[in-house]
Amino acid sequence: MMKPYRAGITGTGSFLPEKKLTNSQLESIVETSDEWIVKRTGIRERRILEDFAPLADIAVEASVKAINDAGLSPLDIELIIASTCSPDYLSPSLACMVQGKTGAKNAAAFDVNAACTGFVYALQIGRQFIENGTYKNILIVSAEAMSRVTDFTDRKTCVLFGDGAGAVVLSRVDDGTGIDAAILGAAGENGDVLTIPLLYASDTDIQNRNEGKKQVIWMDGSEVFTFASRIMAEATKNVLNNAGVEMEGIKYIFPHQANMRILQNAAKRLDISMDKIYSNLEYTGNISSASIPVCLDEASNKGLLKKGDKIIIVAFGGGLTYGSALLTWSM
Ligand code: ACO
Repeated sequence: MMKPYRAGITGTGSFLPEKKLTNSQLESIVETSDEWIVKRTGIRERRILEDFAPLADIAVEASVKAINDAGLSPLDIELIIASTCSPDYLSPSLACMVQGKTGAKNAAAFDVNAACTGFVYALQIGRQFIENGTYKNILIVSAEAMSRVTDFTDRKTCVLFGDGAGAVVLSRVDDGTGIDAAILGAAGENGDVLTIPLLYASDTDIQNRNEGKKQVIWMDGSEVFTFASRIMAEATKNVLNNAGVEMEGIKYIFPHQANMRILQNAAKRLDISMDKIYSNLEYTGNISSASIPVCLDEASNKGLLKKGDKIIIVAFGGGLTYGSALLTWSM
């Protein structure tokens, strides 16, 4: 059944903190090497929030850019959905902080936590409010301070993550562009392969952790790698099927930026060239849910996307979660 309205991205914005953490700097923190990190992950450097800087501030920077890019004022925004798995506060939510700091006085605000899949989840939630006619303009902002939940004594994880924020404005569009199809999913039964305990941790989780440390990432890298490689290809194929679009019709795939080998593996399973897969992880690392909107903003600023182009976003993350969406670019 045709929906009464369509939802499309009409503005993008991003912000990466200035401070860099390079592979050679990591060599003096844990026993690792630039060569190992580049070969196993494709990452050369990542950005890190200063100790005194709130995550909310970089979320605001990205949000203001996206709102300006859409040609709107903060007062036009009716809903803010923030995604993060590394918030400053459990309450107030990141979305409320962004609402307060941007002066988006007419907006409702709440957070979504689907780890690295958070942006895809938030986009699909926002889409519902546009398609059913409730709202016309929604801000979706994904911001992560992964360095604050990283165990810098664990070389298996500390080389992977970085900080940053990306945002989009999702608006009612009436030119046939916008979100064509989306898939969300979860495999909660495997949630214990990637954890960040906050106020309670199970005994098994504590045993896995370096010196039992809580409030930092612990990950079974090879389990996550196997899940990610399979699900990235599957979620891409399924969203193509749902939209009735062939891979040849897709200009770019914007995958969650976790590891270059996962992207290569997905490209192989999909039988496509790496030229079709956008990647910036060489200089951002894995910024969890912020990775896709940061990529979208970069690609838009580089002039790689034009109105009518078909693209796919696809992610996996802690939970475990996964999701994909196929969009006809609206800008
Ligand atoms: N430097 C040097 N050696 C290292 C490092 C390091 N930073 N990290 C691990 N090693 C060592 C290990 O100790 C191991 O040594 P051993 O054989 O003596 O025990 C050896 O390298 C191989 O370790 P593996 O874990 O098998 O290495 P692998 O090739 O699997 O790479 C990695 C590890 C990069 C973590 C990979 O498994 C991976 O990318 N997994 C998926 C990670 C991911 O995508 N996470 C997503 C994060 S969360 C999210 O996005 C929601």
